[in-house]
Amino acid sequence: MIHGYPPHHSLKRDLSAAAIRRPTKLPWGIDIVFDIYKNVRRHTVLDAAAFAYQRYGNTFYQRFMGGDFINTIEPANIKVILSTNFSDYDMGTRRRRASLPLLGLGIFNNDGEAWRRSRRLFRPAFKNNELRSVEGLFELHCKNLLSAIPRDGSSVDLSELFFSYTMDVSTQYFFGNSALSLLELGGSERAGRSAKVFSCAFATAQDRIRENYVLGIIASFRPRHKFKSDRRVVWDFVDHYVDGALKGRRPQKTSQYSVLDHMAETSQDALELRSELLHLLLAARDTTASLLGNLWLMISQRQDVREAILQEIKCLEGKPPTYDELKAFTYLLNCISEALRLWPPVPLNSRTCVRATTLPMGGGLDGTTPLHIPVGTIVGWNTYALHRRADIWGDDAHEFHPERWKAPFLPYYEYLPFSGGPRRCLGQEFAILETSYVTVRLLQEFGSGTIGSVDARPWTEKLTLTCSNLHGTKVRILP
Ligand code: HEM
Repeated sequence: MIHGYPPHHSLKRDLSAAAIRRPTKLPWGIDIVFDIYKNVRRHTVLDAAAFAYQRYGNTFYQRFMGGDFINTIEPANIKVILSTNFSDYDMGTRRRRASLPLLGLGIFNNDGEAWRRSRRLFRPAFKNNELRSVEGLFELHCKNLLSAIPRDGSSVDLSELFFSYTMDVSTQYFFGNSALSLLELGGSERAGRSAKVFSCAFATAQDRIRENYVLGIIASFRPRHKFKSDRRVVWDFVDHYVDGALKGRRPQKTSQYSVLDHMAETSQDALELRSELLHLLLAARDTTASLLGNLWLMISQRQDVREAILQEIKCLEGKPPTYDELKAFTYLLNCISEALRLWPPVPLNSRTCVRATTLPMGGGLDGTTPLHIPVGTIVGWNTYALHRRADIWGDDAHEFHPERWKAPFLPYYEYLPFSGGPRRCLGQEFAILETSYVTVRLLQEFGSGTIGSVDARPWTEKLTLTCSNLHGTKVRILP
């Protein structure tokens, strides 16, 4: 049992007395904020958090910026939070306050009936029959991606291109008009509205959400000029499409289908549509780009992986894959599962307890008995640390080893890149299809011998609201 700062009132005493505590040296756990900032600068937030679990146990309590936190990487606990006792938790005021100024209310910060409405609004877009027709969309932007890769032996950061690619695909699928940012990179006349300006503003404004979450109420005392101007850029970009959809005028529409069209049949509220689309863009774009960057870091560094995938896709004879073909490439899918395990694009997550409840583990002196959770407690889990638990994944838990995914190994709440339960990711299939498609097309184009990494540095965390590799994915194509 580790002793820490004394609790402030009886409910907190319930909680902290029952759980193993991470000690804090300053009131409000301000020293933990300093620690976080130190680790942000060193790009070691996730490794430091994983180390805290090794030190204090798989479930522990900490007081942090005036809040009570339970941290857990116990699959049995996470299952109860996400599924069995789903209605005992919500997304929480802290998360809502942090995201509201940029995103407004939408699927990520709504709860109860409002959340169910958000989910209903989106669901048709992710039905099987819509997904079956996305190959054309992927192919269109893959052509732009392939054209943006230099063939003269100079190096290129694939990760940057993947962020542009997922922006182009997402804006086309969601708004009906692609931002065409890959063309903008190439200075093409055909490039759409200034996607680069939008991307930068969206990225900076997202950082603000993360800081708001860490700082809690203190966040409201910081200057807001830069944030407000970024937000204006982001809102104008999305409003342009929403206005068009509501007024039925979209002269340069680049695709027949769009999520916005579906949504506009149910809602005519411009503010609601803007907010939900921003939530969707946040959910879909950076996550998939991070996955692609991480996967390609391995593919570009490991010739054996490139060759095994090429062997599997040989049956395509160079043709673009169909939906059914993509689903049958098991080795490629195992590589994707392994990239998601080692570097989950959403590595940290949390819920707030709204009805006093219990977790099956984390109580008692050794953390193995049920733990009482009072109302207001924030319960967080760390997918990055969970995916690296040696007692679950073996001694090679830190290595990229796609072969581990062979049946009969079927993890359940031990593996949560897309979360679980009723709020499980809506775009899981879309993201995996998109990642497989791009990977197949890149390998078909460049083979195994011509494309290779020019950067041997290990993966280093770049944590925003999602997580990617700080050094990107630098490769060179041999002429
Ligand atoms: C590799 C890519 C992706 C990863 C790792 C990922 C991961 C996640 C995770 C962990 C959540 C749960 C968030 C929470 O509990 O707070 C989530 C939710 C969600 N994701 Fe994804 N996602 C990915 C791609 C996508 C894509 C491509 C879309 C849409 C096209 C999408 C749409 C959503 C939506 C709408 C939710 C909210 C679900 C709800 O709260 O009911 N995601 N995603």
